[in-house]
Amino acid sequence: MSGVLLADRYMSPMTESDLDEVATVERLAYEFPWSRGNFEDSLRNGYFGICMRHVTGTLIGYCVLMPVVDEMHLLNLCVAPPAQHAGAGLALLREAVRITHAEKLDGLLLEVRPSNHRAIRLYERFGFASIGRRKNYYPARHRGREDAIVMRFTFVKEGANGAA
Ligand SMILES: CC(C)(COP(=O)(O)OP(=O)(O)OC[C@H]1O[C@@H](n2cnc3c(N)ncnc32)[C@H](O)[C@@H]1OP(=O)(O)O)[C@@H](O)C(=O)NCCC(=O)NCCS
Repeated sequence: MSGVLLADRYMSPMTESDLDEVATVERLAYEFPWSRGNFEDSLRNGYFGICMRHVTGTLIGYCVLMPVVDEMHLLNLCVAPPAQHAGAGLALLREAVRITHAEKLDGLLLEVRPSNHRAIRLYERFGFASIGRRKNYYPARHRGREDAIVMRFTFVKEGANGAA
């Protein structure tokens, strides 16, 4: 086992060997899932992929992060349905922020469906703020489209407390 051990679960970088399981969880968790190829492309492009597993090896969740200039973009954050509501989403978000900070980037951006109340609550509780909206960004039922809310987590710069 390689990675950071957290009580009964651990995180490790996503690799090609994770992708069958990742794609299976993705299909269970999303109505409009990424394909396995989307994950392959992300790894090929050098994006950061993180998997969280139970010590037994079961995949709990994952996230994919893409650095763009001075910001990180959270492209995917997902927890397997049976493992939801136990803090895994929060733990993955913390790891995403830790990596963003370690890469010396200014902030972490993401898009979320306005209908995804659970995810929005998680992001707001963490400290993400809504900074805009992309019209008709996501596919939706009946060949419709759904907007995206754009949210950003900004690091507080040391010494930026208003003191001259
Ligand atoms: C959104 C998502 C990532 C959240 O993951 P999660 O692991 O359920 O998140 P957490 O457990 O950290 O928090 C979710 C809820 O569980 C609660 N919770 C956390 N630990 C808990 C515990 N030990 N016992 C009971 N409840 C707990 C949290 O308070 C939170 O409650 P709320 O929804 O009422 O605010 C997950 O629902 C998911 O993967 N959804 C499908 C994919 C998706 O929509 N991804 C986001 C795309 S933008």
